[in-house]
Amino acid sequence: MKYALVTAAGFAAAFMMTGNAAQAQQSPNCTSDAESVWDMSADEVKSFYACMEEWMQQCYAQNGHDVGSVYREWTVSSTRPAVAGAHSNRLLQTFANDIAAGQYLKFETEGVEMPAGSVLAKESFALKNGKGVIGPLFIMTKLEEGASPETNDWHYSGLTNTGDEMRVSQSFCHDCHVSWEAQDGMAYPLEEVRVSN
Ligand code: HEC
Repeated sequence: MKYALVTAAGFAAAFMMTGNAAQAQQSPNCTSDAESVWDMSADEVKSFYACMEEWMQQCYAQNGHDVGSVYREWTVSSTRPAVAGAHSNRLLQTFANDIAAGQYLKFETEGVEMPAGSVLAKESFALKNGKGVIGPLFIMTKLEEGASPETNDWHYSGLTNTGDEMRVSQSFCHDCHVSWEAQDGMAYPLEEVRVSN
């Protein structure tokens, strides 16, 4: 664990010192012939992701953020990324930390209450002019009971593709996530890609 963190920080330092030119070189130039992410077959999504995933992980980790640099060690909740429509029609894939995983991966629809300390991190990426672009890493963190009654104790946050914290409006995120109130505000991946427990 400690080793992984040190490695991520070391990578971040190297990445930042060499600046934008190095960042461009780091881009693996992932391409697809599909018109849009909606037209991609499951296999096309998988090979597109295979090209994107390491690059995404490095980009989110480059500032040593406490979620951005570790989320890939968590439990993945889907068999591949998928487009749900929400989150700007991007391909999405969610990871759950150890506190969250047991409950999240049941994908229950009634009476769900996530334990405090649960963190869900969702990668997002898109296809623009035939090339892969990295969107934000969307994060939901369950706070102690009573810490934020207006968001049902969730804290919403996000990282840019340069590993920087985004300014996030709690009400913007929650106003949509509250639609899944019986699932403690969680929308879950599309059914066809859910990892079965
Ligand atoms: C218009 C509705 C909408 C808005 C606004 C929205 N989300 Fe989501 N969110 C969804 C849907 C739908 C999913 C499940 C889709 C998927 O992951 O395939 C989801 C999934 C997530 C997940 C994975 C956990 C889960 O619910 O299963 C995280 C983390 C997340 N969103 C964070 C955020 C953050 C942070 C914001 C604000 C910046 C935000 N969301 C705004 C609809 C929304």
